Amino acid sequence: MRGRFITFEGIDGAGKSTHIDALAEHLRQAGRPVVLTREPGGTPLAEQLRELLLHSPMDPLTEALLVFGARRDHLAQVIEPALAAGRTVLCDRFTDASFAYQGGGRGFDAGVLSTLEGWVHRDLQPDLTFWFDLPAAVAAERRAAVRAPDRFEQQDLAFFERVRAGYEARHRAAPHRIVRIEAAAPREQVWQQVLATLEQHPW
Ligand code: TYD
Repeated sequence: MRGRFITFEGIDGAGKSTHIDALAEHLRQAGRPVVLTREPGGTPLAEQLRELLLHSPMDPLTEALLVFGARRDHLAQVIEPALAAGRTVLCDRFTDASFAYQGGGRGFDAGVLSTLEGWVHRDLQPDLTFWFDLPAAVAAERRAAVRAPDRFEQQDLAFFERVRAGYEARHRAAPHRIVRIEAAAPREQVWQQVLATLEQHPW
């Protein structure tokens, strides 16, 4: 049986990483083989592209092409084989992030993003997406406390409000697949929302 493809989204500082690790552990304990991966990245080539994306200045079209180039390699080398082998793939960000960051944040043409999406993974969509949502100002405070900013994290609050609006639009267009998690809540409550969502989407 084909495995399940679950993705995790949200603005930087939403706290999704903690819950991805916890969910991987939870599923493994339930006896499911899990592949934990991320975008941009997940293969040697895509990790090199990630370095460029996070640290080298570039124009928005280059950024969009590199994000989808990394994704193409990641799908071919990791995601598709894992799903075919019946594994559950947990991926930290996927194409919804391109619509939110390149589309919403940068204001890049959503039609071009849809074309790239069609080329790279026409028939493959996540089965379930957790969208960790919180106000941009709260996320900025959380980020400032823990790490030095990369090229995206250096953007101002208005950028992250646009990214958040980008996610909101994706959620509205596919409310069954993209589930909103109230990420401003205390960590344990966020985790309970993740578990409850999983129960509501059995497979
Ligand atoms: P992130 O996943 O938040 O990793 P970390 O927790 O290590 O900072 O960082 C990846 C960055 O890449 C994030 O700022 C969003 C950006 N990104 C895009 O702009 N477009 C995309 O399609 C993807 C997958 C990520």
